[in-house]
Amino acid sequence: STYEAQTPKDLFTVNSPNVKYSDDHIESKYVYRTTAVTKGPNGKYTASPKETTYDFKVDRKVPKVGMMLVGWGGNNGSTVTAGILANRRGLTWETREGPRASNYYGSVIMGSTIKLGTEVETGEEINVPFHDVLPMVHPNDIVIGGWDISSMNIAAAMDRAQVLEPTLKAQVYKEMASMKPLPSIYYPDFIAANQEDRADNVLPGSKACMAHVEQIRTDMKNFKTENSLDKVIVLWTANTERYADIIPGVNDTAENLLKAIEQGHEEVSPSTVFSVACILDNVPFINGSPQNTFVPGAIKLAEKYGSFIGGDDFKSGQTKMKSALVDFLITAGIKLTSIASYNHLGNNDGKNLSSQKQFRSKEISKSNVVDDMVAANSVLYKKDEHPDHTVVIKYMPAVGDNKRALDEYYAEIFMGGHQTISIFNVCEDSLLASPLIIDLVLVAEMMTRISWKTESAAEYKGFHSVLSILSYMLKAPLTPPGTPVVNALAKQRSALTNIFRACIGLQPESDMTLEHKLF
Ligand code: NAI
Repeated sequence: STYEAQTPKDLFTVNSPNVKYSDDHIESKYVYRTTAVTKGPNGKYTASPKETTYDFKVDRKVPKVGMMLVGWGGNNGSTVTAGILANRRGLTWETREGPRASNYYGSVIMGSTIKLGTEVETGEEINVPFHDVLPMVHPNDIVIGGWDISSMNIAAAMDRAQVLEPTLKAQVYKEMASMKPLPSIYYPDFIAANQEDRADNVLPGSKACMAHVEQIRTDMKNFKTENSLDKVIVLWTANTERYADIIPGVNDTAENLLKAIEQGHEEVSPSTVFSVACILDNVPFINGSPQNTFVPGAIKLAEKYGSFIGGDDFKSGQTKMKSALVDFLITAGIKLTSIASYNHLGNNDGKNLSSQKQFRSKEISKSNVVDDMVAANSVLYKKDEHPDHTVVIKYMPAVGDNKRALDEYYAEIFMGGHQTISIFNVCEDSLLASPLIIDLVLVAEMMTRISWKTESAAEYKGFHSVLSILSYMLKAPLTPPGTPVVNALAKQRSALTNIFRACIGLQPESDMTLEHKLF
């Protein structure tokens, strides 16, 4: 292993009376400034600036982390594995366009920067890699493992996925051939019938039971011991399941959900069983697929155990564009009136989604992504008025992982005019999803080392169990019950950036640049 226990090595330090560094921690006293609004009897609003002071504490010791993927042998699982191994070894490979080198493009943490501030002498803007803002795990150091209902080793799975160049595959093949997925939980009713011929690596039993929960817990414990890990993070990148019905007495409360698993109730999905096993062991669990893994009982169980959960559904291609473009149109004052989204793809995900119930999960996840932006603009839209929005997905084997997404945005502009924007997006789906898997794991891990308290409180505690800070990477972001969902991409990135900044006592990134305007 290339892993060495890391001592903090900072690219920068913050010089402020409100920020303290020790060997173990960074502590910051942070004034959170918001605006409290009240509505008077005359219907008019009063806006009052409000300040809340929080103490944040960041654990600086970077742990040795293991990532366990459910669906390890899939396109995403095998691609992210090869990508991390290649980066770890600094591999380059020949293509018809010349040599290519390993990188982490598409990862917001590894591939993007944030503005630290302005250089005093030169007035130059100083930007630092996102990864260096807080003491984060490096993806090259992540130990990878996981489960799959298909027994294929991860090298063969990489071939099956048809995503990476042969010259790259050859260099990681041997190492990946020794990686074998653990047997998983398979309840045939939850994924498409066309997946059945893959399922040759399954635990006995075809409905939920405590034995499955316990087996997953044992698997995680063994993985941790065998690799001398400090921490494990689990991520679902297995097939899209059908929705589970929410049934009172079955999956509505934490107790009922545990009881339903004990009694083998048929509405408990494999992904929910995985989430329960993780929650019981305080292992962060992230759902990269669209189904409702986090039934109300699972969320309540996570809250009870103070365990982190995040989801749902990777936001890689079409929806990422949508959450940027719709944000732009509506905040520009242009009235978007319809979105027609077509997809066709030829990978195993597409095959699974050719089944109606699984497609329905994806359709729901893809459909609500503009609601908050529409609702926020009462100038363009009346209450409950929505643009028309249709999502179509078709299975087209020939295009493989090279997913096609065709979108038409139709909008009303000044004085009854129209604007039509047509987008044709083509790319390897798994090469977009893999860096998101890395971001989700890195950020979720970081959140396990950030604690907070109010000034008067004695004890520090963690963030809420539902990690809505992961929204940037997810299509249908899960938020703490009763709190709003934010889909607008720029806002999601601001939340991520500015929460990280708060932890080191820095103000939110402000684009006012008054220093260049007032002199
Ligand atoms: P895939 O079909 O290639 O991989 C899924 C893997 O999960 C397969 O190897 C399958 O054998 C395994 N599997 C199924 N049920 C399992 C279970 N109960 N336990 C363990 N393994 C199980 O699909 P791909 O392309 O890797 O995508 C994975 C998931 O991510 C899909 O649900 C997809 O909808 C979702 N997703 C993918 C995106 C992307 O690739 N850009 C974007 C958004 C979501």
